[in-house]
Amino acid sequence: MKITPPKIIQGGMGAAVSSWPLAQAVSKLGQLGVVSGTALDGITARRLQDGDEGGHIRRALEHFPFPRMAKRVLDTFYIPDGKPAGASYRNYPMHDFEGRREPLELCIVGNFVEVFLAREGHSNPVGINYLEKLQLPHLASIYGALLAGVAVVIMGAGIPLAIPGVLSALSNHEGAEYPIYVSGADGKGETVYMKFDPAAFIEDEVLPPAMERPDFIPITSADALASILLKKSSGTIDGFIIEGNLAGGHNAPPRGKATYSEAGEPIYGKRDEAKLSAIREMGLPFWLAGSAGSPEGLKNALAEGAAGVQIGTAFALCEESGITPNVRRELIQKSLAGEAHVYTDPLASPTGFPFKVAALGGSLSDEDVYLARQRICDLGALRQPYRRPDGKIGFRCSAEPVAAYVAKGGKEEDTIGRKCLCNALIANVGMPQRLKGGSEEKCLITMGDDLVNVGLFSSSEQICFSAKDVVNTILG
Ligand SMILES: Cc1cc2nc3c(=O)[nH]c(=O)nc-3n(C[C@H](O)[C@H](O)[C@H](O)COP(=O)(O)O)c2cc1C
Repeated sequence: MKITPPKIIQGGMGAAVSSWPLAQAVSKLGQLGVVSGTALDGITARRLQDGDEGGHIRRALEHFPFPRMAKRVLDTFYIPDGKPAGASYRNYPMHDFEGRREPLELCIVGNFVEVFLAREGHSNPVGINYLEKLQLPHLASIYGALLAGVAVVIMGAGIPLAIPGVLSALSNHEGAEYPIYVSGADGKGETVYMKFDPAAFIEDEVLPPAMERPDFIPITSADALASILLKKSSGTIDGFIIEGNLAGGHNAPPRGKATYSEAGEPIYGKRDEAKLSAIREMGLPFWLAGSAGSPEGLKNALAEGAAGVQIGTAFALCEESGITPNVRRELIQKSLAGEAHVYTDPLASPTGFPFKVAALGGSLSDEDVYLARQRICDLGALRQPYRRPDGKIGFRCSAEPVAAYVAKGGKEEDTIGRKCLCNALIANVGMPQRLKGGSEEKCLITMGDDLVNVGLFSSSEQICFSAKDVVNTILG
């Protein structure tokens, strides 16, 4: 591993919860700050339409190696005083297999900007986090992050066997490909390769210098998967994050046939816990995640031979988090009053993975709010490719309008309880789409079970806390 293993990794939290201000704050403190790489294309497009307050994106783009690409993105999305109040955001183009240029350029630019800004003002390493399941933007996104000098790539929600090889190729500005699962009408799937060649985007005749290959740390819940990753990956793995089912965000489903509690949550058992003895034998640094955000959590992890812990929930509630301040405050107050509740929803996420949802009035955790929302798929980050009867590849999402999903060969039962995470997550960070009629898309907040323990950092006299408070409290 090239970086010195930190005791605390601030978990990557999409979309834009762990944005550059949080990652920068944590890295400046000598721990590992991690930006979320999820949907940075759309987030950058929306920040530009909001007028790029503080000029951060434009400042970062002055250092971007491909000025003509930067100009194209600015010309398309930047609105100097921000879009008029009440106007909708302009949608940005969705990814496809043909490698349409516009979405790829927006990904390269968005990832560069986020990492560049997180690295500004210090020389400590910064990481980026991706969800394996959101496959189409991977190659362009990683290339953008590499151009900005990302030191660590962390990936969860899938088995990222191909990523190590991708990191080696793209760091040398060589072409790379990524295997993407395409489901078939007959229930059988196939693998189709998404290709990306930096040469098609580099603007000068001369190649930019080779970049340092970042460390790669996959997230897994099971020692068996860690072992598969070690044996079958396309290159070096530098460590593991071992994440249990109390963690915020997506969780791995329970192993074997799923059973559910009366409340409808998946039931986890002993066999869902990773065998740490097996992980230790692999000889790589590892971090424990999932309700590990306390001095005891760190102490236990170190006693188990871990290098430290990865923490999400506590950082998601601190001042530098991207979640809007009023939502953060309400969640903290609920927690301090003993009223916080986190539900492991097996259906909400179109990825099919259980998703932790914090109860919050007026958000999509509220059944009435969910049922009142008209389904629409206008962002499309979670669309899954499928083979159409005419042989072409189409895209569908189980949270899109039911009739459209079924017309694309999807099963109606798969649409039940699905929530549009694309729109909800971008609403969580203050950039909700405005709908016809003037209403806005609603939030859906994810938190880990540690939400109930926020009193470690906060009190009714001092509700707000910073990333520094989290780091100092945990390090003791
Ligand atoms: C708001 C929020 C968003 C998250 N988003 C992601 C994500 O995009 N990718 C990911 O790998 N993990 C994600 N996570 C998981 C965290 O990175 C981290 O592993 C986890 O929160 C650790 O457990 P804790 O919440 O008990 O501290 C998210 C967690 C939270 C609370």
